[in-house]
Amino acid sequence: MAIRKAVVLCAGEGTRLRPLSFSRPKHLMQVAGRPLLSWILRALADAGIEQIGVVTPPDADAIQEFVEDGAQWGMTTTYLVQPRPLGLAHALSTAREFLGAESFLMYLGDNALEWSLAEFIKEFEASQAQAAVLVKQVADPRQYGVVELAAGEVVRLVEKPPEPPSNLAIAGVYAFAPVIFDAIDRITPSTRGEYEITDAIQRLLDDGGKVIAHELGGFWEDAGSPEDLLRINRFYLTQLRLEVHGVVDPASTVEGAVGVDVGTQVTNSRLSGPCLIGKDSVVANSTVGPNVTLGNNCHILNVQLQNCIVEDDTHIENLPAGVVRSVIGRQVRITGQGCCTRPTRIVVGDMCRIEVT
Ligand code: DAU
Repeated sequence: MAIRKAVVLCAGEGTRLRPLSFSRPKHLMQVAGRPLLSWILRALADAGIEQIGVVTPPDADAIQEFVEDGAQWGMTTTYLVQPRPLGLAHALSTAREFLGAESFLMYLGDNALEWSLAEFIKEFEASQAQAAVLVKQVADPRQYGVVELAAGEVVRLVEKPPEPPSNLAIAGVYAFAPVIFDAIDRITPSTRGEYEITDAIQRLLDDGGKVIAHELGGFWEDAGSPEDLLRINRFYLTQLRLEVHGVVDPASTVEGAVGVDVGTQVTNSRLSGPCLIGKDSVVANSTVGPNVTLGNNCHILNVQLQNCIVEDDTHIENLPAGVVRSVIGRQVRITGQGCCTRPTRIVVGDMCRIEVT
């Protein structure tokens, strides 16, 4: 039967994204003008998924408020609560009833990738395997699950190995036959105290099962840190068709792929693509871009912004030496005195006030 259900894992603590993740789950961080989760749900819908189970922590109102019933992606949604973040296999086990006896996709809700999900699903369906993992060659795979292949099939999986058996990292997407739940029932917590999905897949192999790997050629990143968010922002900006709908005065210049939404006014400034400016914002005497996403209702006055994510309702003034590689939450006020000689780097969550002297 064709895969039509997916489980998206959005519990977990996001500690490396603090302070940003104090005000919002990492799955809802803005990248290229939308929450990360919205890009993921679009990819799942494009791959033919009809029903999603979203695994959340007990207090995940923000995720439920954002996804609602899934209708905006043409999918139905079931919410599954994981009481404590005890690992990916534990998170998946909350979806057992939702999945019933069907094969399904599992997607880690903090992973961004260039879509090849339909191809991945097709390969799994044709393979008679019990599991498939999406993998990507990386220079240093020690912080990921790593697979070892022989004759095109997976022969071993290890989670965050100090001495990786290959450079193939597990890229956050899996396909499973329902037999994975029998394997989950038989694993114990790892040395880091989590029920690892890699251990459950290894259990399938130990039982004589077949596991395949599909190598992703394009972009992949998991949103563990602010730097990762900036890389994801840069990637998704290049995927958008950007257009100017706001008002850019004749004293301003626009270079490359630039999006300016309605109600925004740009005066005496330079916009350098890729960059995206939301609705009802004001940009004056500033340089914005490349690789910048600016939210709605922001004010950027006498600032150079480069390689930044700035969320809605934020004002930044008088930092002509630059704000770079920064992730800045909602309703933030940052004021300089125009006297800094070096660019400033800022990572702050919502509602902060900063004076740069
Ligand atoms: O990003 C890819 C890597 O993701 C894989 O290579 C690893 O094999 C896999 O174990 C995982 O490692 P991470 O340490 O990066 O996983 P993290 O704790 O960041 O959780 C990934 C997602 O799953 C995230 O959206 C939170 C969610 N999660 C996590 C845990 C531990 C849950 O829903 N429940 C949990 O208990």
